[in-house]
Amino acid sequence: MGRKFFVGGNWKCNGTSEDVKKIVATLNAGQLPSTDVVEVVVSPPFVFLTSVKSELRPEIQVAAQNCWVKKGGAFTGEVSAEMLANLCIPWVILGHSERRALLNETNEFVGDKVAYALSQGLKVIACVGETLEQREAGTTMEVVAAQTKAIADKISSWDNVVLAYEPVWAIGTGKVASPAQAQEVHAGLRKWFQENISADVAATTRIIYGGSVSGSNCKELAGQTDVDGFLVGGASLKPEFIDIIKAAEVKKA
Ligand code: PGA
Repeated sequence: MGRKFFVGGNWKCNGTSEDVKKIVATLNAGQLPSTDVVEVVVSPPFVFLTSVKSELRPEIQVAAQNCWVKKGGAFTGEVSAEMLANLCIPWVILGHSERRALLNETNEFVGDKVAYALSQGLKVIACVGETLEQREAGTTMEVVAAQTKAIADKISSWDNVVLAYEPVWAIGTGKVASPAQAQEVHAGLRKWFQENISADVAATTRIIYGGSVSGSNCKELAGQTDVDGFLVGGASLKPEFIDIIKAAEVKKA
């Protein structure tokens, strides 16, 4: 079974209702490859999730940017996985480096969140990635393997997980990983799956790249054997997101 190209748009904490209308209009008007070629998921802030879901063309799915680690209840300010499932929000992004760094989410906490979200029927875009210091210290594979293992320890199936490799030094910096740097880590993660989970999980799990993906660098990145798509931040708010989605055609050729 092939790994269908996957493009996620992470809007982060951006946008007014007017901005959101414009982005949705651009997405609805864009010429996209067919859903046989690419799976597209955009992730607006919680407050816009349901309106974006109802206004977007049906081929584009939506994701929440986070959810609570267990069943809802007395957790002020949180949104539970059950609520997302109840509203038919199919996807959630978990373990983003901004949450790991700014909100002190640990590997174990992220593992628990992924497991709970899956148990409620959500699909998960799980993020891993090293900091610049960790890369310079030569520990990139060790760091991403530990982040992936903390998830693997808590879940029994990878069927509904897309793994996003997002080097922290490349996020929002305009400093994209070179195609060779991305390929090296993606291949390393696939090998990790092969050695620690199964050959099947290694062959079928989509590993997508995130960190300053743009309309101008997406094709070359998409051409790498183990790059199965992208998680896009800044550029997902702009019309060039359509060009990034079209990079899926590189795989088809
Ligand atoms: P960026 O963000 O594309 O703005 O670098 C990527 C991400 O954080 O998912």
